[in-house]
Amino acid sequence: MSVKVFEDKETQDLLKAATNIDGAQGNPRFKQILHRLLSDLFKAIDDLDITPDEFWTGVNYLNKLGQDGEAALLAPGLGLEKLLDIRMDAEDRQAGLEGGTPRTIEGPLYVAGAPVKDGVARMDIDPDPDAGPLVIHGTVTGPDGKPVAGALVECWHANSKGFYSHFDPTGAQTEFNLRGAVRTGPDGKYEFRTLMPVGYGCPPQGATQQLLNQLGRHGNRPAHVHFFVTTDTFRKLTTQFNIEGDPLIWDDFAYATREELIPPVTEKTGGTALGLKEDTYKDIEFNLSLTPLVHGKDNQLVHRVRAAA
Ligand code: DHB
Ligand code: FE
Repeated sequence: MSVKVFEDKETQDLLKAATNIDGAQGNPRFKQILHRLLSDLFKAIDDLDITPDEFWTGVNYLNKLGQDGEAALLAPGLGLEKLLDIRMDAEDRQAGLEGGTPRTIEGPLYVAGAPVKDGVARMDIDPDPDAGPLVIHGTVTGPDGKPVAGALVECWHANSKGFYSHFDPTGAQTEFNLRGAVRTGPDGKYEFRTLMPVGYGCPPQGATQQLLNQLGRHGNRPAHVHFFVTTDTFRKLTTQFNIEGDPLIWDDFAYATREELIPPVTEKTGGTALGLKEDTYKDIEFNLSLTPLVHGKDNQLVHRVRAAA
């Protein structure tokens, strides 16, 4: 088939009717977005001669994506969550806002509600014989470089199998295992005592991996650790660091790696005194530098459905 019907009045009227674009009812912003997206899809079907078989393959794929609960996993895999970061970075540059720890994607595996500790938190609740001890620490500073007291630093990461508590397909982990939250004191310091994570891989039978297979791509991430930093005075920071030396650092399926987010890993002794399972442990210093509100507001705060326990 090489017919072209996109510009036809019948097709354009169908687009308008389907989105009620000229109607008084409905949500104007939603109608604007859907009209554009549907229009782009109509045009792609026409331009690429997408066959009915291909079309229904796509529809059924969306059903599987929802059944697997993986829409928020596919979004970063397709670079969409990274695009949002690229746009926020550009918005900052345009506003002359520089500095601060770079943002990078949240990903789909945060869980709200980890118990908040003062300054230091132990994150490993469950034993993990394959993971060695790790201490992550740093200072939260404001735009003036001074320590920030009262900052909530939240941290989450995977275990030695690359699985996150709450989302672990083996069901092996306790609620909030490897999820921590600390409130900084006047020195702005935070510390998490935990275990070394391993990189995440998409569920092999899931919808995301199925799509990646068709693209000839893998669905793996380097080992990494996530952070939220929340205060009353500055913008919320959403970031991660990668574990230095992971071979996938520059081959992350979710495109979260940034050069400034690969802190050195050093080896230290004295872990026994800290209550770690071995005296020798890995140490990562990761400082968190916050950026100012814009006209008194956090202009880049992201609202999305998040798990809570
Ligand atoms: C994704 C992000 C993560 O941090 C993770 O652990 C798993 C998946 C993602 O972007 O899809
Ligand atoms: Fe992650």
